[in-house]
Amino acid sequence: MIPRSTKVLVVGAGGREHALCWKLSQSDGVERLYCAPGNGGTSALPKTSNVDLKVSDFAGIAKFAGEAGVDLVVIGPDNPLADGIVDFLRAEGLRVFGPDKQGAQLEASKAFAKDFMKEHGIPTAPYLVADDLSSALAMLNENPWIRVVKADGLALGKGVFVCDSDEEVRQALEAIFNERRFGEAGNRVVLEERLEGEEISLLFFCDGKSISAMPPCQDHKRRFEGDRGPNTGGMGVYSPVPLYLNCQTEIESQVVEPLRKVFANQAFDFQGVIYAGILVVTEHSLEGKPVYKPNVLEFNARFGDPETQVIMPLLQSDLLAILWNCTEGTLATTEIQWAKKAACCVVACAGNYPEGSSSGKAIELKETAEHVYIYHAGTRLEAGRLVTAGGRVVAVTAVDDAFDQAVTRAYEGMNSVAFEGMDFRKDIGRRAVGACP
Ligand code: AMP
Ligand code: GLY
Repeated sequence: MIPRSTKVLVVGAGGREHALCWKLSQSDGVERLYCAPGNGGTSALPKTSNVDLKVSDFAGIAKFAGEAGVDLVVIGPDNPLADGIVDFLRAEGLRVFGPDKQGAQLEASKAFAKDFMKEHGIPTAPYLVADDLSSALAMLNENPWIRVVKADGLALGKGVFVCDSDEEVRQALEAIFNERRFGEAGNRVVLEERLEGEEISLLFFCDGKSISAMPPCQDHKRRFEGDRGPNTGGMGVYSPVPLYLNCQTEIESQVVEPLRKVFANQAFDFQGVIYAGILVVTEHSLEGKPVYKPNVLEFNARFGDPETQVIMPLLQSDLLAILWNCTEGTLATTEIQWAKKAACCVVACAGNYPEGSSSGKAIELKETAEHVYIYHAGTRLEAGRLVTAGGRVVAVTAVDDAFDQAVTRAYEGMNSVAFEGMDFRKDIGRRAVGACP
């Protein structure tokens, strides 16, 4: 049973955490909400205070949660999960939403994730694993299909090299093993075949026994229009995804069903969010009909950012009940309703992001139209004034019955945001405009 007046602590400081706190603050069952360390948006929410603690300060977080009488801790980012924050807090007697260190391996080790997919029959690109440069080069010699090199560990989304030639593969291997560009995250590499297709993010709540899918969405990882430039944490996202509407049956039978079986058989201990990055290869039958082949590129063991900024505004049910019931193992009997609407989220970042970030510049925010929301990421309050404090600064999400309107209104919402050096991609959702209902 969920206590009637719950105190919840959300760990993290990004747009994802603001969206989670925004939704939790609407829950009647939440009496007090804390965000550690939070940002300028979380501190302005009803019932909510920021707590000045680093996400890596497990002891400080445990102490605060104990003293404040926190009933549920929700972990946002990947690093503390991989470092075992959940194990630490549980050992202190706290209830935590998020996977333990072993479960978080699904994201923290790409080799672990690939072996998991192989074992459970989840389609993924062919792969090999190497622990040093000479064996990786030998594998490349014998397997000319290798075109993707991935540092095994967490590398801020930068540890993946998609190559065009053997030479580029060799350069990637040298960057990882010789230059040690990703430190220990590059002690091991996954070598993959390169697939071509469109990507879909599909996130699931998971209580260790069952899973429940959230609305599919599509992230825009590259910095510039037309999917050019360096990879970022994500420049914008939208839901639904037209491609998903075409290949839902294939994703359901080839990805979701095997995953469901893993948990029905309790073959993997995991509570939290499983985020599958799916690449859909489209081939054609002899009759010229499209044949869709979904492949899981990676798993994340947490909510996506900015994916959460479109998913939360579409959730009609009580988020507290869902997260709580995941920790109880009662997800299967929990009501989860999603609005049958479209959402589009555009990220406003510093001009020099992702290489650089912005700090201390005044942010001006104006009132937005109905169903248009501003989620803060890199912001903080400085003497009562909202200023920039990061690469991705805020994101604007619009929800609408019509997809095209959601996109238009998200961009209109951008007029409510201003700070020096502000930039954003102008083509978020463009691929889907006209293709979504
Ligand atoms: P990951 O962190 O594994 O999702 O990889 C980051 C990005 O690299 C993905 O979003 C894809 O765009 C790309 N990528 C990863 N693996 C492959 C692959 N096997 N073939 C083509 N692109 C890939
Ligand atoms: N938007 C990608 C991620 O959260 O990993």
